Amino acid sequence: MNNMFYEPNKKESKHGLAHDPFKSLIVPRPIGWISTLDREGNVNLAPYSFFNAISYDPCIVMFSSSGLVDDPKKHSRRNAEETGEFVCNIVSAELTDAMNSTSAHVARGIDEMALAGLSPSPSKTVKAPRVLEAPAHLECRYLKTVEFESNVPNQSHAVVFGEVTGIHIKDDFLTDGLVDVLKIMPIARMGYLDYTRVDKVFSLSPPDTKTGAPPKKTGF
Ligand SMILES: Cc1cc2nc3c(=O)[nH]c(=O)nc-3n(C[C@H](O)[C@H](O)[C@H](O)COP(=O)(O)O)c2cc1C
Repeated sequence: MNNMFYEPNKKESKHGLAHDPFKSLIVPRPIGWISTLDREGNVNLAPYSFFNAISYDPCIVMFSSSGLVDDPKKHSRRNAEETGEFVCNIVSAELTDAMNSTSAHVARGIDEMALAGLSPSPSKTVKAPRVLEAPAHLECRYLKTVEFESNVPNQSHAVVFGEVTGIHIKDDFLTDGLVDVLKIMPIARMGYLDYTRVDKVFSLSPPDTKTGAPPKKTGF
């Protein structure tokens, strides 16, 4: 069977498609809706889909901020670095439009949380506020930033790491002591302008390591 191939980081290698396919292959990407304070105490809120957990003992998360070399720091990154903290708010499906509106490029110091009609809620371990309307929140202590050079002229990418110092989950989204993902219905980013939401869950048992018995098949 034929397949297309290209080398994404080589200028001379072309994918030949209407749009770059890379981001459509790494899907779905969870969205970290990052709330921070700047040095003057102004609230900032923006979504980041190059976001994920990287370990759970300790709990560490990251978001990746792209920017221009001559003004490389988006507000979320700058605030996290300057104040040493940030909060990742979980985006439920009903918050999709509010989340999208907070991606608007506005001047530093402008409160996107207020612009989106959302309310700040005090955090317990950091000064940066949480988004009251979100179903769950991860309060984070800034750890470090790792910068990567970009192939695109005048661009840079910086990955911001934070240790999770506090986790809030609203009672409504816990069922029998388990996080009820189908109630949260988190949304996630795909390629192009596409998103998805978690509205289907299936479980898998691991192979039995003692007997070697094969696990039950999914039927997929
Ligand atoms: C769903 C979604 C995901 C995004 N993910 C990223 C990302 O991973 N990295 C990034 O640099 N910008 C991302 N953006 C764009 C930023 O949200 C946007 O540049 C925003 O203005 C940054 O705000 P800030 O300067 O207040 O941090 C995303 C936008 C949307 C709508």
